[in-house]
Parts: sequence; structure tokens; C-alpha cells
Amino acid sequence: MARPIARRLLLPLTIFVVFYTIFRNAPVIPLAKSTHHPESFPIPLERLHAPIKHPFVNNSGPSRDSDAADDGSANVLENKFAGLGVLNQDSKIEEVPALQEASQESQNLIPLALHGLLTCPRSPNRFTDHIRLPNLLYNISMSPRSASSKEERRFWNPTIFALPYWAKTQYIIVSMVAPNGEAQRRNVLCEANICHPKTAVSSPTHERSCSDDDLDILGPNGGLRCVTAPIEVSVPPTPAAKCEGLEQVFADIPGFHDPRIFYSGRGEPILMVSSQSQYACIGLWAIDLRAVYPEIEEILASSPKRLGPGPLMSYPTLTELTRSPPSSRRSYEKNWVIFSPSVSSSYLQYELTSSTRTFAKLIGGGLTTPNMTDPLEEPCLLDPTLEEIQGGHYNENSTWHQATPSLKLVLCSRSNATCNAETADSVFFAAIHRKHVNAWGLPVRYERYMVLWSTKPPFSLLAVSQHPLLMANETTFGWTAEETWDDDHNAKLENRGLWGRITYTTTIAYAWGREEGDVREKGTGYLDDEVILSVGVDDEGQVYGKVVISELLQCLRICPGRA
Ligand SMILES: *[C@@H]1O[C@H](CO)[C@@H](O)[C@H](O)[C@H]1NC(C)=O
Ligand SMILES: *[C@@H]1O[C@H](CO)[C@@H](O)[C@H](O)[C@H]1NC(C)=O
Ligand SMILES: *[C@@H]1O[C@H](CO)[C@@H](O)[C@H](O)[C@H]1NC(C)=O
Ligand SMILES: *[C@@H]1O[C@H](CO)[C@@H](O)[C@H](O)[C@H]1NC(C)=O
Ligand SMILES: *[C@@H]1O[C@H](CO)[C@@H](O)[C@H](O)[C@H]1NC(C)=O
Ligand SMILES: *[C@@H]1O[C@H](CO)[C@@H](O)[C@H](O)[C@H]1NC(C)=O
Repeated sequence: MARPIARRLLLPLTIFVVFYTIFRNAPVIPLAKSTHHPESFPIPLERLHAPIKHPFVNNSGPSRDSDAADDGSANVLENKFAGLGVLNQDSKIEEVPALQEASQESQNLIPLALHGLLTCPRSPNRFTDHIRLPNLLYNISMSPRSASSKEERRFWNPTIFALPYWAKTQYIIVSMVAPNGEAQRRNVLCEANICHPKTAVSSPTHERSCSDDDLDILGPNGGLRCVTAPIEVSVPPTPAAKCEGLEQVFADIPGFHDPRIFYSGRGEPILMVSSQSQYACIGLWAIDLRAVYPEIEEILASSPKRLGPGPLMSYPTLTELTRSPPSSRRSYEKNWVIFSPSVSSSYLQYELTSSTRTFAKLIGGGLTTPNMTDPLEEPCLLDPTLEEIQGGHYNENSTWHQATPSLKLVLCSRSNATCNAETADSVFFAAIHRKHVNAWGLPVRYERYMVLWSTKPPFSLLAVSQHPLLMANETTFGWTAEETWDDDHNAKLENRGLWGRITYTTTIAYAWGREEGDVREKGTGYLDDEVILSVGVDDEGQVYGKVVISELLQCLRICPGRA
């Protein structure tokens, strides 16, 4: 929890330098003391003076609690200067005692089955520290067979989720269209199927074989291809209450970004997007995907094992998700993660870093309780060590970013007859990225980790990947190609090069083809189920990986304070 003093000072100093350069004519008042949370980062440069239009609002007063809009401006830095690690924790959040239902003892115990997931399949790459999984990344094509003309646009940061097994098509993809000089943000949706070449050695049971045309478009290993023409996803525009300083540019950009799709506890397909905020600059909004794409309504309502309509819609219209108290809102919010412990309850995890965690319960209409994180919980994520920093591949400025929606996992195998979801232990898991930046604050790479937390109050963090994960044909940036492929004999022999500078995992979803009884099970899986990882490449490409959970979630480290 205690960051070394030197490191605490480095960040503000850094930002001071950056901003001094930008606002060199502004009268600059020395760093303000952080007087609030012990875990909070000091907020640098709080009191720039008035006449200059700048991103900093005066948040130095003692009574900020009442002022909703007066918040979060430090996020501009995070966006503009790519993760210098500034978090605006400067607000006094009413501490809510963690839920008391769980006894201290049960909070500290980790499910026995997790002990089976602590061993590593092989040793990590001796240069990059990655564990490489044997699964390939596959191509995604938005050009359906039926298309009259080839899709020339570029797509990135796809979000993929599986339809129920009784659906004709397997997946829904929503992708961002790479901006082609235009300010408008466009996002398209299609229904898609996975195919593999007939000759694929271990052809998985559910998968279709590719036609020649598929192979032509996807490459020799096949992949995921739209079967319906991509259509633009339209959700109503949302006006921004207030975008100030550097954030002003965001105020009027039409369209949403960072779409994420996932199933709620009751099986609603939720589309979560970033769009202008009615309270600040940019906020997170949710809408039922059926309201956007009614074609799937009937599919979700036609479970062969359960009669009646599909799940009720909690978000029939675009609804902004919020933080409570309002003073804890930041002006630019992103990367929130929903988790649903039961059919009827959902929580929003706003941030999870090496020093802080904030989550709250959704109480309807996008409203939430205040922070419910157990104050006794010890941090679990680790920043680069001094040794690593001295090694030259890491620096002080790395930050943790929640990456994907969470999934629920029952800690036994679907194929095991004695495995019972009602009695077995379960956890939530999600991918999280440790973002590394260069000396100018620009992103160098995102390291992919998996993080697990309890499905019972107070939803304690349980475990995290010991090492970052790479897929079989993925490289990481910051090392030579030879170093990156050091753990892959063949690739080294081939002199394989670097590929994809930034690979960013946007979504994890259970793969198509499991025999669910009902859509309410779409967000829950078992150790032998497969997960689809949606991966954006360099803000201009898209791929996916498919991994069995017990391989994705191996080589874990148990969080401090758990036994
Ligand atoms: C900022 O707020 C503090 C306390 O509310 C006040 O004393 C100070 O004058 C304000 N500074 C500016 C530049 O408005
Ligand atoms: C890994 O797979 C992706 C997706 O098919 C492909 O674009 C990329 O070139 C592959 N990487 C390497 C290093 O071959
Ligand atoms: C992805 O597509 C590229 C270009 O068509 C191809 O070179 C590559 O091998 C494909 N990757 C896979 C894993 O099939
Ligand atoms: C929420 O509570 C946890 C535990 O007390 C704390 O670490 C975290 O900083 C709080 N979040 C905010 C925004 O204050
Ligand atoms: C099946 O599940 C039970 C209970 O979850 C476990 O004890 C047993 O070891 C499992 N069997 C196999 C073959 O994995
Ligand atoms: C952190 O970023 C700043 C500039 O943004 C840079 O000057 C500094 O060197 C970085 N820290 C390290 C340890 O590289």
C-alpha cells in the first residue's frame, strides 16, 4: 500500500514538468499537499490561476464533497499523456463498512480449487517475463460472403460475445471503425461465425470448416467472419455537461467509443459504451443490446429448456452509470467493470490498481451505492520493482487499467458429473492490463494479466496471474524480436519478427457451443469451458484468441491476506 516516497514524488514532478511546458505562461503554484486518503495520489498543480483556460479546476477546497462537476480533471492527463498514472482520488468518499454478512474467517480463505491453478505450465520468458499460451490469435473479417463489395474500412478494438448455442450464428461482434480523418466515431455490428481449415489437426467439435473463400479472406488458419453485413450501431447522442481545458475537444465529437458487450446475471445482453456525460465530460452508459439490435430478441427468448420471454430489460434505453457520492466522479470516466453475484444483483468496479480498489452496488437506473470495498483488503496488483526499473524495460510511470468485463466461473469442470454449480465454489475473473509508457508518457505496451475475486461479499480479491500472458503468435514490445521469441524454439529458428505493437484485450466471453440451460447462464462457466479474448491491435486491427479457462487461469499468485 505504501508507495516508496521517491515514487510518490516522481509522478507529480513529472506532470509538473509536462504542464509547466504547456502552460509556461501561467502562474504556477507549488504542489498542493495531499490531505485526504492515505492511499490517494497527490494531485499536482492544483491551483493554476484563473484567466487561463486550463484543465485544472480548483479542487483544493476543503468542502468538495458537495460539488459534483468539480472533479476528475486530472484524467485529462491520463488521456492526453497516456497514462502517467495520475488518479484523482482527491475526493472524500463516504466510507461504507463492507458488507458484514461474511465472517472474517471465510473472507480470508480462498476456495480450495484455486490451489490447483497456482502452478505454471512452463517458466516465463527470461527477458520479457511472459508466459506464452499455446493458442494462436486468429484473424477477424468484417466482409461477409454475401457482400457485393469488399470491406475496405479498418476496424479495431472488437468486442465479441457468444449467442446461445441454439442460435443459428455463433457470435456478435461490435467493432470500432478506425477513424479515417473524420471526427465522428463509428461502431459497427455483425453476426459472425468461426471456421477452421478442414485439415486442422485437432478440429474442435463445435467448429465449422472454412470455405476456400473464408481461407482467402482470413488466412490459412481461418478465424471469425461476419455472416451479416456490418451495420452501424446507433445509440442516441449524449450531451456533455462540461468538458474543460484539454478535454474540450471531446465535448462535441459525435458517436460513442469503447463498446463492450457482456451478459448480466439475468442474461441480458448489455452494451456498455463511453459517451459524453450528463454530469461531467465523458461517462459510461449501458443499453440493452436488444434495443439496439432487435434481431437477437427472439433468439434470447427461445431457450429450448425454458419457456417464456427473454430476460426483462434493466437498460431499455441508454442509461448513464454513476458514482456515489457525485463528488467522486471524474470528468473522464472509463474502463468500468460490472460483476453480477446473482441474477438480481450487479456491482460496478470503477478502479482496480496496485494501490486502490473501488466498487459499488448498482441500485437501479444506473445509480449506485457509495464505495463498498473492504477497507481491510490488502492490494494485490504489483507495480514494477526497483530492480525491474533499473533493468531499463519498465519505468515508474506504469499504471493498471481494467480491461474487460468480468465472467463468473464455477471452480470445477462441466464434464465432471459431480461438479455442481450450486455447491461448488465460484469466482469472478477479468483481464487487466499493466500499461507501460515511454519517457514521453506514450504507451509502449499493455501487459495482459488475469485477476480473480470472490463472488461473496465483500468480494475480496483472491488471485492474479504471476506473469503477463502472451498468445502463441503474439509479441510484446520493448524487447528485441529475438528476446521476445526466446521461449519459442521454432520462432527463433525462423527468425520471426515483432508483430503488433499494442495488443489490447477488450472483452472476454464464454465461447459459443456450450449447452446452457438458459441465457442466465451465459455469463457463467466452468474450468473446462473456453473463453474468447477480443484483441485490438495497434488501434487499427482486430484479432481474437480462444483459450480453455484452466489454461488461462493457471500460474496464479494468491493475494496477500488470503490463505
Ligand atoms: C480554490 O478554493 C479555495 C478553497 O475553496 C479558495 O480559498 C481559493 O481561493 C480557490 N482558488 C481559486 C484560484 O479559485
Ligand atoms: C498472429 O496472428 C495474427 C492473427 O491471425 C496475425 O495477424 C499475425 O501476423 C500473427 N503473428 C505472427 C507473429 O505471426
Ligand atoms: C491472418 O491474415 C494474414 C493476412 O491474410 C495472414 O498472413 C495470417 O497468416 C493470418 N493469420 C492466421 C492465424 O491465420
Ligand atoms: C474505496 O474503498 C477502498 C477501501 O477502503 C479504498 O482503498 C479506495 O480508495 C476507496 N475508493 C475511493 C474512490 O475512495
Ligand atoms: C470432479 O469434481 C469433484 C468435485 O468438484 C472433484 O473432487 C473431483 O476430483 C473431480 N474429478 C475429476 C476427474 O476431475
Ligand atoms: C516518467 O515520465 C516522465 C515524462 O512524462 C519522464 O520524464 C520520466 O523519465 C518517466 N519516468 C521514468 C522513470 O522513466
